[in-house]
Amino acid sequence: MTATYKICLLAGDGIGPEIIAEGVKVLNAVGAKYDTAFEYTDALIGGIAIDETGEPLPAATLDAARASDAVLLAAVGGPKWDTTDPNAPRPEQGLLGIRKELGLYTNLRPVQIFNALADASTLKPEIVDGVDMMIVRELTGGLYFGMRERFYDEDGAGPNGTKGQRAYDTLEYSEYEIERIARQAFEIARKRKNKVTSVDKANVLETSRLWREIVHRVHDEAYADVELEDLLVDNTAMQLINRPADFDVVVTENMFGDILSDEAAQITGSLGMLASASMGDGVALYEPSHGSAPDIAGQGIANPLAQILSVEMMLRYSFDMGEAADDIRRAVTQVLDEGWRTGDIKDAETPADKIVGTVAMGDLIVERL
Ligand code: IPM
Ligand code: MG
Repeated sequence: MTATYKICLLAGDGIGPEIIAEGVKVLNAVGAKYDTAFEYTDALIGGIAIDETGEPLPAATLDAARASDAVLLAAVGGPKWDTTDPNAPRPEQGLLGIRKELGLYTNLRPVQIFNALADASTLKPEIVDGVDMMIVRELTGGLYFGMRERFYDEDGAGPNGTKGQRAYDTLEYSEYEIERIARQAFEIARKRKNKVTSVDKANVLETSRLWREIVHRVHDEAYADVELEDLLVDNTAMQLINRPADFDVVVTENMFGDILSDEAAQITGSLGMLASASMGDGVALYEPSHGSAPDIAGQGIANPLAQILSVEMMLRYSFDMGEAADDIRRAVTQVLDEGWRTGDIKDAETPADKIVGTVAMGDLIVERL
């Protein structure tokens, strides 16, 4: 019997519509091969949602996401909606909103080197050789969702008794939130190289001291077989480019994870290659780690591989289609080994006839599948 999965498509802004089309193309190819039917529902998120409905995350989008078996998102944001006005809607609120509403507290960001692209890194080849880490970022707590305010300070209680505008954001974590993300990290480490690096700022922050305590309690109670190390976030920023191959699973809170995952992505030299998965207890969401690249939107030159690799993660984690997921990874590796490149991952030696656009890259993957 043909299995049927419902997928909610959130193309969003910038290059979003172009790359998500390639993700769908790959899903359809996989579906044909594995006797699986994928049914798609399009919904609005981000800037385009603001333009069409006034809100970055319309209720209809949440309904569509909840009614699906998985969500495939491309990217949101662009200069058109950039503002520092605290009351104006922002495309990013769509992304943050859907993470919160769907309870997607675990964000997985794999950082892997494709051999064919090893030269793309700004780090020396011997440093990036063997890099294979999984960043596990807490996604629904911390600074991103804490109490915040901007106000005019009439009393002059600011530094040096100054008056003027003030603002604050609150960093708060509960034992419950730390425990559940720690468990995820240890479970994932067991399926990998059995090592977890927990990143915090316990020498300064109270939330980090709680973080460290809970991570160790969870470890000692249930995961003593997994190697656990603590690393301060500033030191981690250094070690990531000093000895990236030493890391296996890196678990950290929301804001640290945001920053470190961009740094880690750069180790591979190709942000256009990295996928991510956001999961909770219900439907999961898959998206590229990169943004909406408004500067190249609509030109047909965006790299669809991170989107296609997020389809790989979807098949693996939401549909238990590990074999199909392996197929996609093999196809991507093969196409890169054959020398095909989009503009962002080409180098001085890439011949002009090996540089392809978004659609052609998607076609190559489908052919190899
Ligand atoms: C990410 C992005 C988002 C984040 C932005 C777009 C809100 O940078 O997914 O890493 O900060 O989480
Ligand atoms: Mg980020």
